[in-house]
Amino acid sequence: MKKKILVTGGAGFIGSHVIRLFVNKYEDYEIVNLDKLTYAGNLENLTDVENKANYRFVKGCITDKDFISELFEKEQFDAVIHLAAESHVDRSITNPLEFVETNVMGTVNLLLAAKATWKDKTDKLFYHISTDEVYGTLGDTGLFTETTPYDPRSPYSAAKASSDHFVRAWAHTYDMPVVISNCSNNYGANQFPEKLLPLFINNIRNNKSLPVYGDGKYTRDWLWVEDHAAAIDVIFHKGKNLETYNIGGFNEWTNIDLIKLLCEQMDLKLGREKGSSEKLITYVKDRPGHDKRYAIDATKLERELGWRPSVTFEQGLAKTIDWYLANEEWMNNITSGDYEKYYEKQYAQ
Ligand code: NAD
Ligand code: DAU
Repeated sequence: MKKKILVTGGAGFIGSHVIRLFVNKYEDYEIVNLDKLTYAGNLENLTDVENKANYRFVKGCITDKDFISELFEKEQFDAVIHLAAESHVDRSITNPLEFVETNVMGTVNLLLAAKATWKDKTDKLFYHISTDEVYGTLGDTGLFTETTPYDPRSPYSAAKASSDHFVRAWAHTYDMPVVISNCSNNYGANQFPEKLLPLFINNIRNNKSLPVYGDGKYTRDWLWVEDHAAAIDVIFHKGKNLETYNIGGFNEWTNIDLIKLLCEQMDLKLGREKGSSEKLITYVKDRPGHDKRYAIDATKLERELGWRPSVTFEQGLAKTIDWYLANEEWMNNITSGDYEKYYEKQYAQ
């Protein structure tokens, strides 16, 4: 069936994998990628699909109310997959307002425009991509389920939680068909090197120190980004109205264990002496309000919609390292400009 789908934030890390999957898999769909191209947005992530007949890029900002309502009026989208956001916790600590503007106001703008143009809503869908961080932090045991109460603790997660609430409010108040998924930490190709894995891969390559926050004993649940995109595909097509689906890799690691594994693999890939990358580890000041542990129970998605991660962590990590080592130019382009300034400020002790 033909469908015109608006994907927001498609030039970013996860969005680019979602665009690639949908453009290649669904030739009948028209995929419109709306992105502001902030520091995190990069059209180099999409060069392999940019000339496909069923793909179009539109540059624009989701907080621009007039622009968004005109776009929806003109394009008459059938569905929205909403990924555009400010996504980095550290940046939300130094600049919270930007996160409120993009993640909250931007989402509400999209909801307003969808409500205004979707007269008959039965075959429409607003799919909101969210994070496990809305659930707060876990102790040593337990997992986040879809019914875990919201307890966001950083400006980033508070803004994402707020946007989730607005999406559900639109469903209850205006009968908007919606679905939400909350995913754990993604890793893979095309991720901006402010996030742990691409930052540390790049630093190891350049023999720079590896800044581990606090004692490094924080736990995250890692998922290969292409498995997240596959889950989004399944939820978009089979998810039930107003449902929430947790997405995770069943793959918990403390930061320090993960970093040591990365160092080992990098030594092998770079042909360096065993133990040489580990010597770059430097413990630095902790992130304020650092959430101790995230871990997702993704069994609802597996049981109801049949999704499971396709790769083991060892396979996904090896593919990821290979990608960054083979794409030095991508990394060099993205770390030119303001990146050094960000880096020096963020890691000044
Ligand atoms: P990213 O920072 O790599 O990409 C965000 C994209 O949004 C960029 O292309 C940027 O240019 C665009 N954007 C930002 N502000 C915009 C605006 N005002 N108007 C239009 N476009 C704008 O982020 P990501 O890691 O790919 O995350 C995508 C989504 O998935 C976010 O909503 C994030 O909260 C969510 N998420 C991320 C992870 C993760 O591990 N990265 C996990 C769970 C959920
Ligand atoms: O859980 C999902 C979330 O995962 C997403 O919603 C966010 O968009 C995404 O950025 C990610 O958030 P985290 O804060 O967990 O990711 P980050 O890569 O920033 O950090 C991962 C862990 O590594 C975290 O415990 C902090 C730590 N860390 C991070 C950096 C950048 C370090 O120890 N040193 C670092 O330099």
